[in-house]
Amino acid sequence: MRDFLRRLPKAELHLHIEGSLEPELMFSLAERNGIRLPYGSVEEVRAAYDFADLQSFLDLYYQGMSVLRTAEDFHDLAMDYFRRASAEGVVHVEMHFDPQAHLARGVELPVVMEGLSRARRQAWRELGVSSAMILAFLRDRPAEEAMQVLESAAPYWEMLDAVGLDSAEQGNPPEKFAAVFRFARELGIPRVAHAGEEGPPAYIREALDLLDVCRIDHGVRCLEDPTLVARLRDERVVLTVCPLSNVRLRVVERMSDHPLPQLLEAGLTLTLNSDDPAYFGGGMLENFAACHEAFGWSKETFTGLARNALEAAFMSDERRQALL
Ligand code: ADE
Ligand code: ZN
Repeated sequence: MRDFLRRLPKAELHLHIEGSLEPELMFSLAERNGIRLPYGSVEEVRAAYDFADLQSFLDLYYQGMSVLRTAEDFHDLAMDYFRRASAEGVVHVEMHFDPQAHLARGVELPVVMEGLSRARRQAWRELGVSSAMILAFLRDRPAEEAMQVLESAAPYWEMLDAVGLDSAEQGNPPEKFAAVFRFARELGIPRVAHAGEEGPPAYIREALDLLDVCRIDHGVRCLEDPTLVARLRDERVVLTVCPLSNVRLRVVERMSDHPLPQLLEAGLTLTLNSDDPAYFGGGMLENFAACHEAFGWSKETFTGLARNALEAAFMSDERRQALL
């Protein structure tokens, strides 16, 4: 089965590129940039990845990315991930990236865009992996700051496949970003948002109604609201579910408790994703394999989930046809 899952052409719709930073690369970039890490070894870093909730992960995630300073760093980060993903049978990667987390450290948007863009071109040329860019706003920062980021990204609007919304969800409802997402819509930029990971089902509704998103990232808490589930099913809203992430961030206690079987049973349009593979125990293949182990799904089920991702991906119709 693992061989089948590896060979299955997979599109990843929910990945934070900064969350693909493996401890080995963290150390080598720290050395290159003369940055001192609060860890003595790769093993110590991995041992620190024991999270109680989303916030405890975010604290280490923002600390980890402090080694990213130059365009070359962002290029190396993304290429490292593209190579690993390609070896796992991933053919398309949609990467969230967090400009505000870099701006706060004095790293300007052009540095991030240059490094990631170069890696995307190289991944396509050398690995045949296509990719998309999702500029994500940090929802625990002021909406005015998000608006400034979107305005200052004007030279890159054409390169953005979507804008997204991530970071600490509780107490930061989608409503807070209604004006920012309205502006993105006026610019013709598609929209996605994290909702219903730790936050309530109401945040999923808000993301649909106020942010006009085409996909919900996570969305697993929709099951608490049957009317919402019916709406998501009828409108064929895509959920980008991240099973290992949900276990590691204690959204669920263990894989066998994960609501994926109920979401599937409810007729929702689901995709499987890795979220932050360096922090949560593996990439796409590990997430698919964990579902097989926990739920015993058939090859047809996995093929259907992979197909959902290809159908929902930000890619040209030509590329989609070639992959479907
Ligand atoms: N940023 C990186 N990973 C995230 C997640 N799982 N939820 C919210 N924000 C994130
Ligand atoms: Zn995420």
